[in-house]
Amino acid sequence: MNMENKFIDFEILERFMLDLMVKAGVPEKDAKIVTDVLLQADKFGFECHGTIRLKPFYLDRIKDGILNPVTNFEIVREGPTTAVIDGHNGMGHVIAYKSMQLAIEKAKKYGMAMVAVRNSTHFGIAGYYSLMAARENMIGITGTNTRPSIAPTFGVENMLGTNPMTFGMPSDEPFPFLLDCATSIAQRGKVEHYAREGKDMPKEWVIDENGKCKTNSREALADLIAGRAALTPLGGVGEETAGYKGYCYATVVEILSAALQQGAYMKMLMGMKDGRKAPGMIGHFFIVIDINAFTDPDDFKKTTGNILRELRASKKMPGQNRIYTAGEKEYYTWMERKDRGVPFSNALLEEFRGLCDTYDLKEYMPCFEADSAGVLF
Ligand SMILES: NC(=O)c1ccc[n+]([C@@H]2O[C@H](COP(=O)([O-])OP(=O)(O)OC[C@H]3O[C@@H](n4cnc5c(N)ncnc54)[C@H](O)[C@@H]3O)[C@@H](O)[C@H]2O)c1
Repeated sequence: MNMENKFIDFEILERFMLDLMVKAGVPEKDAKIVTDVLLQADKFGFECHGTIRLKPFYLDRIKDGILNPVTNFEIVREGPTTAVIDGHNGMGHVIAYKSMQLAIEKAKKYGMAMVAVRNSTHFGIAGYYSLMAARENMIGITGTNTRPSIAPTFGVENMLGTNPMTFGMPSDEPFPFLLDCATSIAQRGKVEHYAREGKDMPKEWVIDENGKCKTNSREALADLIAGRAALTPLGGVGEETAGYKGYCYATVVEILSAALQQGAYMKMLMGMKDGRKAPGMIGHFFIVIDINAFTDPDDFKKTTGNILRELRASKKMPGQNRIYTAGEKEYYTWMERKDRGVPFSNALLEEFRGLCDTYDLKEYMPCFEADSAGVLF
């Protein structure tokens, strides 16, 4: 599959996804949030979590009755700097957006805040919510548990999710420091991407039931789905390259996503109950630190910017001409894509034409024709 065969304009996608979500029963205000988070993934180059997930992760789950299109955001416990939310298996993006908003409001008043969430669903790119805080001159920390797929060090059973933990911090550069990644070496979306391309994966992404590394991506994907293989934590297999560090960070995220809010964890998140599809029951946490409570935000941004610039200016490895800092590549991807749009494969175009048909949005059909030239409208 060639991901670069057609670019779809962001504005068209935004209108289409909004109309589609509303047709699927999501209230318009909430549909705007879902659309924005999904498009942000494509803007940053995290295709695995963008429009490609619209059908399988959200529309199909609404159809299957395991994702509530109308989100009941219930505050079940609250203090001046804390809150516990029950999301009642509504739209994960909406629950996360509102939770981060609440944490920002509280941190503005009291300097720091934390909101813990239970019974949510897949919320897309975790970095979106940390970025919300960074845009307000605050530090944002976001984490979520997910369906189990990582094996603990010396284990082969998928126990922990790919559990991203993300940090957003403003800098004096055009982009913030934004670390947004899973606590596994690769997340399942990347394995799916390699499988679609028919390419072998790098060693140590996936291990089989005997602890041996699997590189055949199609086999690995089938085995991951069947529970016969597991993803490896950051650091890789065993102790030699400190795989236990990634394993323990994933455990931190699992605990913070379940214990404070008394929500579900690990195998409870398989999405299956008594052989039938079941709601996500995902947990998240959102921590916000108001920089102003510590120092002048401009001073913070300057120090952060200096740290990042010094790192990038340091001596390079032979054969490498640049060093990156977190959030930088995403900024450049957005600069490159903002006028060009989102790359769509033929398979994705076909899927979107199917959605135009199913949701009676035929006016959008020409936008997703493979043979029409370039960006449409
Ligand atoms: N909701 C969920 O259940 C879930 C689960 C897993 C991952 N995710 C999301 O998937 C997305 C991708 O995750 P991933 O683990 O594949 O990310 P990744 O491995 O692509 O890492 C991305 C991060 O690393 C930084 N980075 C990349 N190259 C760099 C370099 N050379 N130097 C310095 N920094 C560099 C980027 O700026 C970014 O912050 C993220 O948005 C994550 O939140 C979501």
